[in-house]
Amino acid sequence: MKYAKKYSELLAQEFNGILSLEDIERLIEKPKFLQQGDLAFPCFQMAKILRKSPVEIAKDISLKLQSRNESDLERFEAVGGYVNAFLNKSKAAAEILHEITEKKNQYGYRNLGRQQIVTIDLSSPNIAKPFSMGHLRSTVIGNSLSLIYEKCGFKTIKINHLGDWGTQFGKLITAYKLWGSEQKVKESPIKELLALYVNFHEAAETNPALEQEGRNWFRRLENADAEAIELWKWFKEESLKEFKKIYDLLGIEFDSYAGEAFYNDKMEPIVEMLREKELLVESDGAMVVQLEDAALPPCLIKKSDGATLYATRDLAAAKYRNDQHSFVTSLYVVGNEQSLHFKQLKAVLAKMGFEWADGIIHVPFGMMLKDGKKMSTRKGKVVLLEDVLKNSIELAKKNIEEKNPLLADKKETADMVGTGAIIFHDLKNFRMNDIDFSLEEMLKVEGETGPYVQYTNARAKTILRKAATSITHEEIKFEGSAEWPVITELMAFPETVMRAYDKNDPSQIAKYVLDLAQAFNKYYGEVRILKENDEKDARLSLVNAVSIVLEEGLRLLGIQAPKEM
Ligand code: ARG
Repeated sequence: MKYAKKYSELLAQEFNGILSLEDIERLIEKPKFLQQGDLAFPCFQMAKILRKSPVEIAKDISLKLQSRNESDLERFEAVGGYVNAFLNKSKAAAEILHEITEKKNQYGYRNLGRQQIVTIDLSSPNIAKPFSMGHLRSTVIGNSLSLIYEKCGFKTIKINHLGDWGTQFGKLITAYKLWGSEQKVKESPIKELLALYVNFHEAAETNPALEQEGRNWFRRLENADAEAIELWKWFKEESLKEFKKIYDLLGIEFDSYAGEAFYNDKMEPIVEMLREKELLVESDGAMVVQLEDAALPPCLIKKSDGATLYATRDLAAAKYRNDQHSFVTSLYVVGNEQSLHFKQLKAVLAKMGFEWADGIIHVPFGMMLKDGKKMSTRKGKVVLLEDVLKNSIELAKKNIEEKNPLLADKKETADMVGTGAIIFHDLKNFRMNDIDFSLEEMLKVEGETGPYVQYTNARAKTILRKAATSITHEEIKFEGSAEWPVITELMAFPETVMRAYDKNDPSQIAKYVLDLAQAFNKYYGEVRILKENDEKDARLSLVNAVSIVLEEGLRLLGIQAPKEM
């Protein structure tokens, strides 16, 4: 926000280089209550540097700023350890509405990244297994982060690191050759492949020879035996077709599907490098990298039978990604339970002397629960995510039929609302929190839901349609103050995007759109927007700005906004 910038500049002059302008700008917040002012600067960091109390610093600075006589920032006040600034309301309202009208969905864009590349490892489900709730979380969080990074001027590369290699494929081929049906796999690949896998394990309990057969087939696969490769490819294609249905529903595309198998021929060079750098040591017959100095357990690189591991592949993948893209940042959106793995990955790469290892960031998240328990795909019993999404869309359609049966684009709207509900429900909580899965909750039009925000936006759009005048935006003047809470929300959007980027946290934006929607609905309840008087233009301009920002906020979450609901 330009006032935050202006405020930061004033503060920077007062602080004279003790904190950089960028640091100051990052610290600026919104005071808890509107009557406390519009911008707050916390003095705690300064207090540490100056070894003075934050309260004292705040008092001192507020007096100095007050004597400056600024036209945009009218008043300064020390509140505890904060210096709060009050804007010139009518000037600010006019300026912000002009800015949003002019910039439209570019509002909040900031070219921090200068088109540098950020790779994002997201979704990454396992072939021939159901797409789990964890993979849904990764998909939705990763996609939103990619949109947020782009809004901050980075170029992003979304990589779906498919789990498409491992001994389980030997078992699967064995099972398919014994009991499989081409027809069934084609009809319902995930269900069928999972059933084969489960069958294999049941049968292997009484018939251990099957395990050996599975190992044989995996060996053939590793040695590029034509039949093994053909079956593996086919399992992969069929699974992908099914995953893509989910991605289509969610409106998500990837730049790469290079999964685990892609790195089969890229691991030996990295193992060789580890050896050259004398980082590889033997431990119980296996090859490991010791990470004592990073206070981590050793990272397993090769098992005693020479087999490579998950970490070996990720080492190769990280290097490959950097070779290809020279990323500044490389995000891995993967469940919290893999934290140790990513710490080890980063530590090994740092030991190898790769400076770019610094850019590797694991973005962890909590679990999806149902009635407080982990959602499991019990033996053979699968909750197919595609069904969950379809249910949600179905429910959304039912709601529309009840509430607005004459709506023109019922199907498109139900799609947007049904998927939006699921995405929003995931993103509105800080990602580390476990979340409870409840379709009914997600789809409520009241409360903290995606449909609530979508509905608010549709309401704004409807007003604009009804007004049917083109908005002039010439003179924006408000007499009262009902609009001020909405104006301040509108102003907060750019910092919100920055915060979401800084913390890799889409929930910042989800919470923001809820706040904006609430502020707008309150305004809508208090003011007759279409009343003919001098302020009508200004009010319409406000409604238009709200809709622009709500849509852009939703877009950054990966959610579409219906025009009407
Ligand atoms: N397929 C893995 C799983 O389902 C996630 C992969 C995450 N990405 C990575 N580069 N390790 O647990």
